[in-house]
Amino acid sequence: MLDRLNDDDRLWLDGIWEKIQVKMRVQTERVGSRIPYIPENGRYLEDKAETDIYWWTNGFWPGMLWQMYRATGEERYKLPAEEVERKLDAALEGFEGLHHDVGFMWMHSAVANYRLTGSSRSRTRGLHAANLLAGRYNPRGRFIRAWNDDCTGWIIIDCLMNLPLLYWAGRETRDPRFADIAVDHADAALKHLLRPDGSSVHIAILDPHTGDLLETPGGQGFEAGSSWSRGQAWALYGMALSHVHTGEDRYLQASKRTAHYFLANIAASGFVPPIDFRAPAEPSGIDTTAGVCAACGLLELAELVGGHERELYLRGALNILRAIERDYCDWNPERDSIVSHGTGSYHGRNGDYEVPIIYGDYFLIEAVLKLKGQALRIW
Ligand code: GLY
Repeated sequence: MLDRLNDDDRLWLDGIWEKIQVKMRVQTERVGSRIPYIPENGRYLEDKAETDIYWWTNGFWPGMLWQMYRATGEERYKLPAEEVERKLDAALEGFEGLHHDVGFMWMHSAVANYRLTGSSRSRTRGLHAANLLAGRYNPRGRFIRAWNDDCTGWIIIDCLMNLPLLYWAGRETRDPRFADIAVDHADAALKHLLRPDGSSVHIAILDPHTGDLLETPGGQGFEAGSSWSRGQAWALYGMALSHVHTGEDRYLQASKRTAHYFLANIAASGFVPPIDFRAPAEPSGIDTTAGVCAACGLLELAELVGGHERELYLRGALNILRAIERDYCDWNPERDSIVSHGTGSYHGRNGDYEVPIIYGDYFLIEAVLKLKGQALRIW
């Protein structure tokens, strides 16, 4: 992508990469192999290995470390990434707290490790996680069920991002069932979650015995019928990834529709997404994590098309990243975390409203390395 950037973009890219390196060096020293999520007063104090080993974001810190290791070759990033991966074995062993998000947890830890070092133990962990994900398949509705307990018929947009674990496992084992399940789920998402205008719903509740659609609640967005911005980002990037792994045009077209919808909406909010594109103007909460995730999806799309279309997606990604860097990044090396103003869900007020959240930093680093042509293919 570097050859498509103008001088001003390149200057900006060199600057932000330099700042990421400074921040990550000192933060890695402080955080080590603890598993961070949201900082308190500028420091990651909580270790998710102690408080919730099943938490869906537990792979993002090792994902950041592996991206940094790949880009810099610095050993300082490797040891804590390996140690976090070992800690996550407690989640594989305990099993019952795990759900659909095992892709987020083991793609960024074990599979990343395997891709970079060839570790056979890491490969086994990745395959173990892929089998857990495949075990959640509902053969009547042909989808991967979300969460646990009574969510038996729930399909959610986020899970598109877990499908690359299945595509990877299918290639590793030469067993077509993994990709078949992923394709069925992506098709079910096309049918039940993506709307014709390029927006998407967060959750569809299906009858688990027949696969019939029952209801589409608002989930982490504002309300039923609204448009949770991180969900749109999951759809944009997730559909692009299913296209990358299968070559199927319907996923590329779905990703493009979602991208056009996303770009049209953020043009009205200074390129930083509100939490929900169909929420009332006030209160005006934002979610930077939707922005950085969408930027990664747009850069993926830019690699898949040519000419003016490529420019559209590249420029869209740069507009988002530069707006977030300008107003919502903390480069003080004394403080942990980079991207501020991430929001977990529209109505949630569990300390995850307009705060730094670990996946915001992961997607920022991935996006910057994609622009530099140095990103590790984690998905
Ligand atoms: N579970 C993914 C999300 O909150 O976006």
